[in-house]
Amino acid sequence: MGPNPPYRDPSLPVAERVDDLLGRMTPQEKVGQMLQLNGKEGVREAVEDKHAGSILHASPERVLEAAELTERSRLRIPLLVAEDCIHGHSFWHGATIYPTQLGMAATWDPELVERIARATAVEVAATGVHWTFSPVLCIARDLRWGRISETFGEDPFLIGELASAMVRGYQGEGLDDPTAILATAKHFAGYSETQGGRDASEADLSRRKLRSWFLPPFERVAREGCRSFMLGYQSMDGVPITVNNWLLSEVLRGEWNYTGTLVTDWDNVGRMVWDQHIFADYTQAAAAAVKAGNDMVMNTPKFYEGALEALEQGLLTGAEIDAAVRRILTLKFELGLFENPRHPDSARQAELIGSAAHAGLNLEAARRSLVLLTNDGTLPLAGGLEADATGRALPAADGKPRRIAVIGPNADEAQNQLGDWAGSSGQVDWLPDGQPREMITTVLEGFRAHVPEGWTVTHARGAEVLTVGADPAGAFFPDGQPRPDIVVPAEPDEALVAQAVAAASDADYVVAVVGDRIELVGEGRSTATLELIGDQVALLDALERTGTPMVVVVIASKPLVLPPSAHRAAALVYAANPGMEGGRAVAEVLLGLVEPTGRLPISFARHAGQQPTYYNQVRGQHGDRYADLTQDPAFVFGEGLGYSTVAYSDLVVRTPAVAEGDTVRATVSLRNTGGRPVREVVQVYVSDTVSSVTWAEKELKAYRAVTLAPGESREVALELPAADCTIVDAEGRRIVEAGAFELLVGHSSREQDLLRAGFTIKD
Ligand code: NOJ
Repeated sequence: MGPNPPYRDPSLPVAERVDDLLGRMTPQEKVGQMLQLNGKEGVREAVEDKHAGSILHASPERVLEAAELTERSRLRIPLLVAEDCIHGHSFWHGATIYPTQLGMAATWDPELVERIARATAVEVAATGVHWTFSPVLCIARDLRWGRISETFGEDPFLIGELASAMVRGYQGEGLDDPTAILATAKHFAGYSETQGGRDASEADLSRRKLRSWFLPPFERVAREGCRSFMLGYQSMDGVPITVNNWLLSEVLRGEWNYTGTLVTDWDNVGRMVWDQHIFADYTQAAAAAVKAGNDMVMNTPKFYEGALEALEQGLLTGAEIDAAVRRILTLKFELGLFENPRHPDSARQAELIGSAAHAGLNLEAARRSLVLLTNDGTLPLAGGLEADATGRALPAADGKPRRIAVIGPNADEAQNQLGDWAGSSGQVDWLPDGQPREMITTVLEGFRAHVPEGWTVTHARGAEVLTVGADPAGAFFPDGQPRPDIVVPAEPDEALVAQAVAAASDADYVVAVVGDRIELVGEGRSTATLELIGDQVALLDALERTGTPMVVVVIASKPLVLPPSAHRAAALVYAANPGMEGGRAVAEVLLGLVEPTGRLPISFARHAGQQPTYYNQVRGQHGDRYADLTQDPAFVFGEGLGYSTVAYSDLVVRTPAVAEGDTVRATVSLRNTGGRPVREVVQVYVSDTVSSVTWAEKELKAYRAVTLAPGESREVALELPAADCTIVDAEGRRIVEAGAFELLVGHSSREQDLLRAGFTIKD
């Protein structure tokens, strides 16, 4: 090879460079390009022996080592370094860790989510990582599933809005921008539709159901240029996604013209052999995966031998391998990695990672992610929106100092507050102690720092949540992966409860911080129950009995079933793993320094047996309740209070009859009826009065955030393309059916919160 072969010449078109490079590669090097291997197991073998095209979960040291090894390889094809940077640069010591995706979703704010993704990309890109496995576009429906916190919640429209923003933020000005990282839409598609919440179980989804609710967010980001898609683990109608030709070829690459990269999920190819048993060996599985159009095979090391053997046996053609490798190489050229492999840059790391600006953004996100669910007027606890010079709240109107008892197992649990995919959450082994403790503010610390001068803050843990034990089925799965520990709820501890009761009895307010723990969250960690685990219910009951007004803060990866004492509490706040600044944000909102503005992106059930409780269920069933319980969720999609109330009136559709190509225009009047400013999320749902197939009673189609000063009234204009008023018909076509519709506008998806007005779409 000459000193500067054509593929190294940036002045040549990418296609020409790819052709030149492909022509120089051996079958081994080509098959290796398709492999993404686990950096936790070392990178030398991956790069030197298997010619891997990509690595994931590589520690900072291994990223450097892999870069050096690649530079010494025959063709010096740059490695794609991938990591799950899903709410910040999850596994980089000192990176900014934001609220989880579910927390971000509670902001209902695409612009904020885009800024978070941009800031994350900037941190990630400085560390030699090119590719993040984010965002998750799965629809969260069964709350028992362990991965709810990774989603944007239960609504396809909201998911599409936020995912699109996140992709824009990651990919920045375009992949050749050195601060851009490759985004991944995952898990394509239907992975969240579990049976009984069991992770990666067969999804009982028809193609029509997929087209109705599960595919639209993916279609949106595919058309908007998301450059990689990750396939789900599960099978549907007997076919694992990895070999689902209809989904991958007909729909994704065919109908949506997607030209980006497809990456399997972890060992999807191997699982078709040892778990789903649809192939007898890795040769057949590898051949099928390549034929189905997969480009990058995540962590199936035996794919290497399998694919080479398949070539040998004629199960695969060279052209089929070339097609996948061509897409991977094209991506690497588009990223400009041959010219600038974007190795770790320590100067940029020092400047950007965990910067003050990112901490500021994180605080904004944490504040906006909190959802106030009930409030009898006890909140806010202190003066007003103004703080003193040190950031402390001003005292309440009577000027009297107060005593606040901050109680509960999640009141001072720094790493747990970050949630899954962060530091010590279990996926990597180089951050055993998690993220730097000093970067995290817990709720207890938030109160200590922000209560008015002269107020006192006391603390008691009050209850333990759980311990863990070994899975009796053995330490490892058949593929050698460790089985997660099993959870053992903590035994009641009367002494802990007694200390908490003493603190509560001696206080003016109790802030009880309960929820779940990381051991109950994540892959393979679905829960059969949704109740507060361990002694937490007994703790809340005991605190209630003290008679001290109690504010319950639930820091949990997903909506939980809360006990009556929590529902009866003076106030209730949901904080979906609010990130490093979460504790400060909680204290500020409770004290009244910051207005609560979050809205639920997902419903809360009253009982696990109500699953699923998502709002956009299909019409038609006998009755509307269980014999022993209502079907109403405890809190619905879209719900969330401020410290003021907003009155809605006069919904008027200005375009009572429109054609499909027109815009439906309406106005609604809002009035801030309280004494504090509000940020109201005006939600716009559509109901199709008669549809040719059964359909959801209502679906979110638009929303607008409106800020109103105390006492302010405003007429708000709403717009909606009539073309969005679709259903998916019996043949699986998304269409608008002419006829009568209703616009439903209001504060949440709850019927009582919505004004209705009719309109017609003409033939
Ligand atoms: C498996 C998970 O399902 C996926 O979301 C993640 O990106 C990969 N592992 C890599 O960690």
